[in-house]
Amino acid sequence: MKVLITGGAGNIGISLVENLIKADIEVAIFDLEEQIEINKNRINSQTELNAGSILNESDISNAIKNCTHVVHLAAALGVSNTEANKKNCLDINIIGTRNILDAAANEGVLKFLFASSSETYGEPLKTPISEDSITQGKTVYAVSKLAGEEFVKAYSQKYTSMKYSILRFFNVFGPNQVGQFVISKFIQNAKDNKPIIINGDGNQERAYCYVDDAIEGLMLALESEKANGEVINIGNPNNLTSINELAHMICKILNIDSSIIQNDPNFKNTDRKHEREIFIRYPEISKAKSLLNYQPKVGLEEALKIVIEKSSNIRDWPTEKKKKYE
Ligand SMILES: NC(=O)c1ccc[n+]([C@@H]2O[C@H](COP(=O)([O-])OP(=O)(O)OC[C@H]3O[C@@H](n4cnc5c(N)ncnc54)[C@H](O)[C@@H]3O)[C@@H](O)[C@H]2O)c1
Repeated sequence: MKVLITGGAGNIGISLVENLIKADIEVAIFDLEEQIEINKNRINSQTELNAGSILNESDISNAIKNCTHVVHLAAALGVSNTEANKKNCLDINIIGTRNILDAAANEGVLKFLFASSSETYGEPLKTPISEDSITQGKTVYAVSKLAGEEFVKAYSQKYTSMKYSILRFFNVFGPNQVGQFVISKFIQNAKDNKPIIINGDGNQERAYCYVDDAIEGLMLALESEKANGEVINIGNPNNLTSINELAHMICKILNIDSSIIQNDPNFKNTDRKHEREIFIRYPEISKAKSLLNYQPKVGLEEALKIVIEKSSNIRDWPTEKKKKYE
C-alpha cells in the first residue's frame, strides 16, 4: 500500500501524513511548491515530497507512480477566497480533480478517497444533516465540490477496479490551518489584541471538528471495504456552538477581555454575504458510526487549547501562491 495525498502539505494533509506513517503506511504527498516550502518543518521527514499543481498533468503522473491509494485533498477553499476567485476555484476543484482521477485510473489505483464538504448541502432543510439530504449549495465552492463528487462516481463506473469513498467534512480545524478560517483568525486576532469581527448576529451555529477526529474517519474509510461507493459525513456534532460562543470561548482560554468581540451585522467585511451564509450546520454521523465505527472524541474547548498551544504563529496563504495560481 502506498498512499498519494494531494494537498498533503495543508491542514488535514500534514496530520494525515503523520498518522499514516505511524501506521507504517508508505506516503507520498503532492502539493504546490510554495506550500511544501512553507510547511516543510511541519511535514514528517519520512514523506516523499512531490511539488506541482493538480492543473499540470505531467507533475501528477510523476507523483502518482506506484501509488495504490489516493486521498485527494488538494483544493481551492475558504468561502471568501473562492467567491473572490471563482474561476480559480472551478479550475482547481473540477479540472484538477478530473486530472487526478485520470492519473489514478492510468496508474491502476485501487481506492480513491475524495474530500468533499458540508457546504454541498447549503442551508439544510433538516438538522442534523444526513447524507441523503438534498444538496443545494450556495457557493461556487459548493458547486465545485459537487462536480468533483460526480466525477469521482463517473470514473469509478468506468474503471471498476478503482473503488471510491466520498467524505463530506464538517468544519475541520487544527494547528496547521491558515489564518483566513474562523478559528485561526479569531485566535490570531485575540493574540494580537485586534478586534474579533463576527459577521451577522453571531448566532450562526457550526459543529467544529478537531483535525485528529477527521483523520480518524479518513483512515477508517481508506481501509474499510464497507466505505466503498459511499458518501459519508465526517464531523463532530457534539461540538455544535454559535460563532458568538466560539469567540467568547477563545477569549476565555487566552484570558483576554471579550470587549474585543464586535459584530458586523451587515456582513460588510466579508464575501460570505447574508444570502450566502449558512445559519445552522451540524452532521448526522450515524452512517460513519455504523459503517466505520467512527466516534469523534475531542471536545471543542480541549481542541481550541491544543490549537492555541501548537500554533505559535498562524499563517495566511502565501502571496506568491495566490498570484501564481489565480
Ligand atoms: N477544513 C475544513 O473544514 C474542510 C471542510 C470540508 C472539506 N474540506 C476539504 O478537505 C480538503 C483539505 O482541506 P484543508 O482544511 O486541509 O485545507 P488546506 O487549504 O489546508 O489544504 C488544501 C491543500 O491543497 C493545496 N492546493 C491548492 N491548490 C493546489 C493545486 N493547484 N495543486 C496542488 N495542490 C493544491 C494547498 O496548497 C493546500 O495544501 C480540501 O479538499 C477541502 O475542500 C475541508
